Amino acid sequence: MILLSGVFLSVVCFAQPLSDQQKAANLLKQMTLDEKIGQMTQVTLGVVAAPEDGVLSPAALAKAVIDHKVGSILNVTNHALTVEQWHTVLTQIQDEAKKTRLKIPVIYGLDGIHGQTYTLNSTLFPQNIGMAATRNTELAAAVTKVTAKELRASGIRWNFAPVLDCGRQPLWSRFPETYGEDVYIGKTLGAAVIKAYEEDGLRNPTAVASCMKHYLGYSASRTGKDRTPIYLPEIEMREYYLPQFQAAVKAGASTLMVNSGEINGTPVHASKYLLTDVLRKELGFQGVIVTDWEDIIRLHTRHNVAATPLDAVVLAINAGIDMSMVPMDFSFFDLLKQAVQKGKVPMSRIDDAVKRILILKYKLGLFDQPYPEEAATANFGKPEYQTIALQAAHEAMTLLQNQDGLLPLARNARVLVAGPAAQSISALNGCWSYTWQGNQEQWYPTDSKTILQAITDKLGAGSVVTTSVRGFDSQDNYDTAKLKAAASGVDAIILCLGENAYAESPGNTGDLALPGGQTDLAKAAISTGKPVILVLTEGRPRLITGIAPQMKGILLAYWSGKKTAEAVSDVLFGDYNPDGILAFSYPRSMGEMVLYDRKPTEDTREIFNADVTMDGYKPLFPFGWGLSYTRFEYGDLQLSSGKLGPAQRLTIHITVKNTGSRDGKHTVELYTREHYASITPNMRRLRAFKKIFLKAGESQTVDFVLDGRDLAFVNAQLKTVTEPGDFDVMIGDKKATFRYPPTP
Ligand code: BGC
Repeated sequence: MILLSGVFLSVVCFAQPLSDQQKAANLLKQMTLDEKIGQMTQVTLGVVAAPEDGVLSPAALAKAVIDHKVGSILNVTNHALTVEQWHTVLTQIQDEAKKTRLKIPVIYGLDGIHGQTYTLNSTLFPQNIGMAATRNTELAAAVTKVTAKELRASGIRWNFAPVLDCGRQPLWSRFPETYGEDVYIGKTLGAAVIKAYEEDGLRNPTAVASCMKHYLGYSASRTGKDRTPIYLPEIEMREYYLPQFQAAVKAGASTLMVNSGEINGTPVHASKYLLTDVLRKELGFQGVIVTDWEDIIRLHTRHNVAATPLDAVVLAINAGIDMSMVPMDFSFFDLLKQAVQKGKVPMSRIDDAVKRILILKYKLGLFDQPYPEEAATANFGKPEYQTIALQAAHEAMTLLQNQDGLLPLARNARVLVAGPAAQSISALNGCWSYTWQGNQEQWYPTDSKTILQAITDKLGAGSVVTTSVRGFDSQDNYDTAKLKAAASGVDAIILCLGENAYAESPGNTGDLALPGGQTDLAKAAISTGKPVILVLTEGRPRLITGIAPQMKGILLAYWSGKKTAEAVSDVLFGDYNPDGILAFSYPRSMGEMVLYDRKPTEDTREIFNADVTMDGYKPLFPFGWGLSYTRFEYGDLQLSSGKLGPAQRLTIHITVKNTGSRDGKHTVELYTREHYASITPNMRRLRAFKKIFLKAGESQTVDFVLDGRDLAFVNAQLKTVTEPGDFDVMIGDKKATFRYPPTP
């Protein structure tokens, strides 16, 4: 009996399948230098396909996959492809990979930034800045699951998302891709999104590998222009920019993309400190590190820290890069080979990088089945995705102003719908929408609605007039005389202004002010004496201070994806009670760019000696602001104790009552402030939020639990610490104080 079970045991041990790590290690042993370097090379589709339609050129494909043993391909040529076109592309690529000696599959990566950007008829959702306004973590996860399914249905298993850059510089053209200015929101939504991408297990046809980006500090450029220098003291870097990546590593992100910029004069792609010491050793990141677009080459051509292209490769790979998004040629392959042969890059570094890439490919099931999967294809374009898109757009809508309770408008109102965004689709979706820039409307789904269409559908054509035309920049959209004339006989003007789609550097601006043509239009609308409701479709806050006071209503719609127009019209006419709240401080002017988590001296405005006011934080609309058609009132804030010890937890209870006459959702936000600390404490920091739904008249008690770690900050020694002291905890207009006592 004993003998038998021994035999049985040894059989079981023998049959143990190899882990992905072991398989990768075994394969690595068989690989030549060329094969290894090929795995570290990523090229763009344009290198192997015709620009117009992404149709692969067999000769170019062979040159990439067979001759250069390229391990990864990314991107589209000019625009999104159909699911079927993707399947053709992916099948041909993997067929080519099968012809290589070791038959290592290619990993294909795309930017599904707010839905699957690059597949025609995919479902697009709000950009991250709008998702942050929803403060709905479950919704962010639901949206992500759809994105993952539509990517995988297209045959793609690697998504270059989420963006975890903290949006503390509203000029930055990638502000819409961020979760706004707060660290906690970025950490919470970022981690939830990464889990949603990956938690089903990467072999599962509902999952994709995520890519946290762009490590680190990318959003903090001094000028606000994309890819321009960042000057970031390490204490600030660790306080505001690193925690999102730390949380993402913990959440299980498989890959990471590096910031194209330079911090304090060191391009991040050349920073061994950030890539190896901080990311690998301190955060414990085990996954693949990929460069951003052409960024190794640019160490030589733009940053001038490498005197030759070879030096650039040596710097980056030794700093810790695993894969180079070269992406337009094979220079990296040739140069890295030289670097290894000359002993400038150790073989151990190559093996380390390649092993990580192979593990990822094993985890994704690419070695078992590299082709588009039938089970995944069935998940494309399901009707329920439209429902999720509408919910996400609804919850993003942020009602900034509602003078005299003018909104919602009556269903029998007669309205003038005007402005360049009224008949635009691209201005409702923004960057990464079927094209990189998102501004080519011919690629959008044909059932996408403009705001004008959505309002007309609701009210009937007889109740709606317009002066707007297709084409955001068309001169006709800025005709003030026409607008004034059309306003006679209407009850209200719905003026749709903001930004047309842009992405990355083409979106750079030197001025956040709303362009003059739009302001003129607003003034013309105001001059009619009719109530004007301003609808802003924009990726970042454009300054509206001069016109805001005369607007009866202001609705910030962001770029909220496929269902933006329906969501706008539902809010304006009361079919949806808005609940979005700002994830950033809406600036008043270029000189008033103070953030909500400001330091005490930013609050202070000293005129002369004792003449001091505490109104330094005066955005046009503060962080967390957003109106509802009902009223939510808070009861007293109750703490489970007046003290929170290092190993203890503090429960905070608050009762919320919907005292208005409509049902609605509401986000309860909890902030803390430390009275005194060794580093100047923030005036407030968001530590938790919960979104609830209350019927009219209903109450609910909301509990939050804090522990010492929630109160921590980075001290002068760059350590994250919680210092003893008195803390305020604040929810709405309620406040209580507790003590975090010194350790005995
Ligand atoms: C962007 C990245 C993106 C990459 C690939 C770059 O220009 O900075 O966010 O993932 O292109 O499309």
